[in-house]
Amino acid sequence: MKAWQVREFGDLDSMHYTDVPIPAPSAGEVRVKVRASGMNFAETRMRAGTYSGQEIPFLLGMEMAGTVDAVGAGVAGFEHGDPVFGRARGAHSEYVCVDAQHLFHKPAKLTFEQAAAIPVGWLTAWHALRTVAQGQSGNRVLIEAVASSVGSAALQIAKIQGCWVAGTASRDDKLERAAEYGLDAAYNYKRENFAERLLRDTDGAGADIGMMTIGEETAGQLFDAMGNCGRIVMYGSTGGRQVCFSLNIGVRNIELHSMSISTSPRFMPETMQTFASEALPLFDSGVFRPVVDVVLPIRELRRAHEMIDERTHFGKIVLMVGE
Ligand SMILES: NC(=O)c1ccc[n+]([C@@H]2O[C@H](COP(=O)([O-])OP(=O)(O)OC[C@H]3O[C@@H](n4cnc5c(N)ncnc54)[C@H](OP(=O)(O)O)[C@@H]3O)[C@@H](O)[C@H]2O)c1
Repeated sequence: MKAWQVREFGDLDSMHYTDVPIPAPSAGEVRVKVRASGMNFAETRMRAGTYSGQEIPFLLGMEMAGTVDAVGAGVAGFEHGDPVFGRARGAHSEYVCVDAQHLFHKPAKLTFEQAAAIPVGWLTAWHALRTVAQGQSGNRVLIEAVASSVGSAALQIAKIQGCWVAGTASRDDKLERAAEYGLDAAYNYKRENFAERLLRDTDGAGADIGMMTIGEETAGQLFDAMGNCGRIVMYGSTGGRQVCFSLNIGVRNIELHSMSISTSPRFMPETMQTFASEALPLFDSGVFRPVVDVVLPIRELRRAHEMIDERTHFGKIVLMVGE
């Protein structure tokens, strides 16, 4: 089968669309014939060699949608031909094997491209807002990089929780698109101090929940924007990891949570369960809308990496596999 492989860390030319053996599903696994796979910021770091724990060689891709091709021993609930989607390492391939516990049946209403846009972004946002921050109606939520894959999912989740939502971006056009999904307050952090704006917009109360993903470049403003007993959920560090902050955040009782959906002990028993029971029906009813920015043929993965670096996308860049 064809798959995108990295044999040495490096630039775009370190990625090769190459022939590798079709994997056989182990016990507990399902082999999926991939129809579409989503592109993630983290893959640019995996390719460059700056992603924690990544070893070479490896197959690129972190999520996909497709049909069940083969079922390993002990798997129940999935049959050949079932449309499915989920997180899966090596998903920029024609076939991928996935732990069945990480797979969902695809909502009938969604195309494969739309379903491939869900797993990493939406599960991260759901884990942060639903499991960690336990967002509730009336909360004021501040989402950094609201146009990102995770951010655009967090926006829809926070709105359905009944929250007032503010978001940041580096470009006005991304903030305008976020308004179409219900963003209440939009801040271009390249032009203005978003903490000052948010405090004005909330009559000095500040944010109850802060979704931190940029890190070094904007952490100071995010801390300043938080209200008393505010919960910060740190899930990314696109703008640098070395953050310095004053312990006087204790005066405002600010809680700082950090998270990874790959290692959190709460992810499988809580986030996966509530996502299946509460979020999936909302995709089927059209309330939640996967945000697909552009669909590219799988051969154009290098272009997808360039687009992540250009930072103009809104939501998810999706790759189509096969016809
Ligand atoms: N903790 C977890 O379990 C988990 C799971 C999934 C993803 N993540 C992390 O979440 C973050 C977002 O992932 P994603 O796939 O949603 O990203 P994405 O769609 O590629 O969006 C990333 C956005 O971050 C903003 N950004 C700010 N400074 C940046 C910089 N120096 N370089 C690049 N982008 C910068 C940009 O938006 P603006 O220009 O508008 O600011 C950019 O478009 C990543 O750090 C990723 O590793 C964590």
